Amino acid sequence: MVNKKLVVDPAESAANNYKLLIGSIVPRPIAFVSTVSPAGAYNLAPFSFFNAVCAEPPVITFAAGYREPSKDTLANVRATGEFVVNIVTEEIAERMNLCSGEYPAGVSEFEVSGLTPIASGLVRAPRVLESPINMECRALQILDISTRPRGGSLVVGEVLRFHIDEAIASNFRIDPDRLRAVGRMGGDQYTRTRDRFQMIRPQV
Ligand SMILES: Cc1cc2nc3c(=O)[nH]c(=O)nc-3n(C[C@H](O)[C@H](O)[C@H](O)COP(=O)(O)O)c2cc1C
Repeated sequence: MVNKKLVVDPAESAANNYKLLIGSIVPRPIAFVSTVSPAGAYNLAPFSFFNAVCAEPPVITFAAGYREPSKDTLANVRATGEFVVNIVTEEIAERMNLCSGEYPAGVSEFEVSGLTPIASGLVRAPRVLESPINMECRALQILDISTRPRGGSLVVGEVLRFHIDEAIASNFRIDPDRLRAVGRMGGDQYTRTRDRFQMIRPQV
């Protein structure tokens, strides 16, 4: 049986649009983005409007919601053109969540969460030691979509270097049971990545 569908005009309510997007597009991967300000202050924040775009060159994207003043991550990417995406695992999920608090610009989420900044090779933004996968990125484009409430900006970045914990990968294949990534659902809900099934694609 097919149920009757609610038909929604997005012009009605941005708040409802947001709820529909975050409840429908699930699970979302989480980019734990580390940046540095021009003055040298480290910043770390999670973004679940995140995905890969293509592999040659390797390009990823994440989006920051509009706010005035801008979120520190976006301000730092605009100012420096660089950032690091760190993958969030079960082990660091709670510390990631601590980093999503709206702390004043002077406060480093590394200190708040106890996570450890370590130097990157090609960018000034630090990596998160406790995350098994770090991607050093350079911003290719920042697309400012809208400055209305719940508007946002899309950051497109090229991965300049991957850092992969050797214990979770073999021949460039990441073992999901060792990675234990978490994803974001609607509201305050998260998902683990342990319940999986396989489907072989048709050979046509
Ligand atoms: C799991 C998770 C995912 C989030 N995803 C986003 C997102 O995609 N875009 C966004 O603007 N904020 C997102 N947030 C909220 C930001 O992390 C929060 O606004 C943070 O304080 C921004 O930090 P900053 O000002 O240091 O950049 C998310 C929060 C959590 C906990």
